[in-house]
Amino acid sequence: MVKKAVIPAAGLGTRFLPATKASPKEMLPIIDTPTIQYVVQEAVDSGIEDILIISGRGKRAIEDHFDRNYELEERIKGKEDMMYDEIRNLTNLANIHFIRQKDINGLGDAIYYARQHTGNEPFAVLLGDTIIDSVIPVTQQLMDIHEQYQSTVIAVETVPRDKVSRYGIVGGDALSEKLMRLNQLIEKPSVETAPSNLAIAGRYILTPGIYKALEKTPKGKGNELQLTDAMIELLKRESIYSQTFDGKRYDIGNKLDFIKTTIEYAVKRKEFSSKVIAFMKEIIAEHGEQNTVRYHKV
Ligand code: G1P
Repeated sequence: MVKKAVIPAAGLGTRFLPATKASPKEMLPIIDTPTIQYVVQEAVDSGIEDILIISGRGKRAIEDHFDRNYELEERIKGKEDMMYDEIRNLTNLANIHFIRQKDINGLGDAIYYARQHTGNEPFAVLLGDTIIDSVIPVTQQLMDIHEQYQSTVIAVETVPRDKVSRYGIVGGDALSEKLMRLNQLIEKPSVETAPSNLAIAGRYILTPGIYKALEKTPKGKGNELQLTDAMIELLKRESIYSQTFDGKRYDIGNKLDFIKTTIEYAVKRKEFSSKVIAFMKEIIAEHGEQNTVRYHKV
């Protein structure tokens, strides 16, 4: 049974500078909700009540976001449209714990910080800068497979071949249309060396064996300890499965995807939908569909 989730949120957010110089990228809001809140909600919707967030220097805003703010609560109490209930509920969403990664040493190192908290149990990992919109939460989809195989399960999605070098890529034997038993994992391969175009999508169920594997794993890409490399080590002793998840993934750490996500989520919200669509039509009429836009330096 998976009862705990780990959310790594310690990265520097270099792909989103200057916004992330002093603010955590996980706090970048999609409309009015910080990215990490969607991620925590996915874990909660999957039935997980214990969440460990791996934070780091400059990430205090994440802790404050899930903590009480009495002064604010007093101010908005009883006022309509002020989201009092939502703000109060944030504190009761789950048992949220924090631990700080001391040095930026990669995703594998961040996960290693969770070893005492998760102990001898399997646990879910949800990357703090990725949100996935789906009918059944993706973590739940992975938990269902884990229940059956009692092994590590990774969510994957098909990406264009020219993008494989941005992701961890997997290869293996298909057990069904979406499920695969893995025999290869490579972190950010070149197109030539990629075993497929199935990319690791930021959601995992890991067995506790990952900690031993991490201890044996040397630093990899970017001179950092890579979780993907530790899973290669784990594969020597345990089976690992991948599941092509049902849902749509949004990578908030990248500027263009962030813009697209904001627009799409605005269109999905009743109060903004028609206004945003009307505005987009105006923009297209004003600038044309070709690249006739005059660019602004802001
Ligand atoms: C990390 C993982 C990679 C995965 C990706 C998904 O890379 O190392 O395997 O495909 O997340 O977003 P990062 O994006 O942190 O470089």
